[in-house]
Amino acid sequence: MTVDADAHRLTRMLGIRYPIFLGGMAHVSRSPLVAAVSAAGGLGVIGSGGMPPEGLEAEINAVRRLTDRPFGVNLMLLDPNIEAQVEVVCEAGIPAVTTGAGNPAPYMNRLKRAGIKVFPVVPAVALARRMARAGADGVIAEGTESGGHVGEVTTLVLVPQVCDAVDIPVIAAGGIADGRGLAAALVLGAEGVQMGTRFLTSVEAPVHENFKRAVIKANERGTIVTGRTIGAPVRALENKMTKEFAGCEAAGRPREEFETLAVGGLRRAVYDGDLETGSLMCGQIAGMIGEVVPVGEIIREMVETASRLLPEGAL
Ligand SMILES: Cc1cc2nc3c(=O)[nH]c(=O)nc-3n(C[C@H](O)[C@H](O)[C@H](O)COP(=O)(O)O)c2cc1C
Repeated sequence: MTVDADAHRLTRMLGIRYPIFLGGMAHVSRSPLVAAVSAAGGLGVIGSGGMPPEGLEAEINAVRRLTDRPFGVNLMLLDPNIEAQVEVVCEAGIPAVTTGAGNPAPYMNRLKRAGIKVFPVVPAVALARRMARAGADGVIAEGTESGGHVGEVTTLVLVPQVCDAVDIPVIAAGGIADGRGLAAALVLGAEGVQMGTRFLTSVEAPVHENFKRAVIKANERGTIVTGRTIGAPVRALENKMTKEFAGCEAAGRPREEFETLAVGGLRRAVYDGDLETGSLMCGQIAGMIGEVVPVGEIIREMVETASRLLPEGAL
């Protein structure tokens, strides 16, 4: 691995210390967690999925009360409030937006006119190319081992191919939870990483203890992807709800009979700690996570380990 002059363009572009993004997780990436990641030198990202515009505005203000470091907002493009949410982020003067669940091209110009750097999540090379042509400032190449909504290609396969296909910074996501993962992603050509599952189990994550404990107890085979048959694959811990969902899919039941099982499931997991009917979204890397630790410690370990493994100046 060589370290070229442009190696730090991502951190320079965003005014952050380390190229580590918090995945913008709906219901999870709220002010305490977002501020903790930004204060520790990464990029905290608010998960705006399911938030009314006034809720998003309040959350942005809450983060600002906790830290003066830069942070971003994740926009879920299928959210019914998406138009109003775009309006809020354009007004708020935040430096970065990440986007999930769809194609952000219709909003790209508005976001960029507001001076916001746009980082779409991409599960495949073709979409990465399209996003780069549409003016994205970077892409988040997310492998299928991730928690939440997933594509089909693994991180190890996807990241170097996306890096070869585009000239903008690539951020690797899916299955990264420590300094070894950060170093590996940079060796593959990525310029940063995004993590969901690891931060979900941090001290600062406003997530029910039952959910955190279940992720910590899980091994690498503990998750399952449901929803492929209805075009909405989601990775979560296997439990009563996902087993029933998967059973209906395998039996070819009509979608109306089972798609409602997961509705509101992430809320039930995050707020109520409902281990039976909740959607305990997390990635395969859950198997590696052994304890609940503060965000600052997670980032410190990552930077120290990766710095030891990589050539000088890489981080
Ligand atoms: C509980 C949970 C909720 C998520 N919600 C969103 C979301 O609202 N928008 C989004 O773009 N990605 C979402 N993700 C994906 C994360 O932002 C991140 O890309 C992913 O977790 C990375 O993989 P990892 O879990 O292996 O670290 C979610 C992930 C989890 C675990």
